[in-house]
Amino acid sequence: MHKNNIVLVGYMGCGKSTIARELLYGRPVSPIDTDVEIEKRKGMTIAEIFEKEGEMSFRDEETMFLQELLEKDMQDAVLSTGGGMPLREENRKLLKKFGFVVYLKASPEETLERLKDDTSRPLLKAPDRLERIKSMIAQRQQVYEETADLTILVDGKSPTQIVEEIRKEMA
Ligand code: S3P
Repeated sequence: MHKNNIVLVGYMGCGKSTIARELLYGRPVSPIDTDVEIEKRKGMTIAEIFEKEGEMSFRDEETMFLQELLEKDMQDAVLSTGGGMPLREENRKLLKKFGFVVYLKASPEETLERLKDDTSRPLLKAPDRLERIKSMIAQRQQVYEETADLTILVDGKSPTQIVEEIRKEMA
């Protein structure tokens, strides 16, 4: 049984970090953000890890991070994950074990709008960003839905609205 932990999954730009912070608003704890933690551990940005060590190495870091997190036996934590975290079956199991998994589902168009000026995400370096986003979301959608205990559509909604929906569904 997970101890009131919440896990946020979803494609890049769906708002995981923002919603994680909002879920803990007013509490003396910060969300755990897997990208931030991995950057700290490696002393490199995600872009540098991809460039110097490759995506596979980054994916291994993600799995190792989750394995260690599970050992800490945390309670009332909010975990914000990198968009590719649920791709590995082992990670899906670990995420579900850690907490109640919420998929923040954004359309490709909304995603593009949110990420149009972003230069930090190596997987979005593509001549046609919308096409890249569409095809990656199409490939991943099922995995996100399978991992999630709850799916929230986020297009056009404010963080406050999204958090209210999550709370209502979890009550
Ligand atoms: C990735 C998403 C990124 C980051 C990395 C790979 C992905 O995290 O982990 O660039 O494969 O979707 P965000 O979802 O926080 O942008």
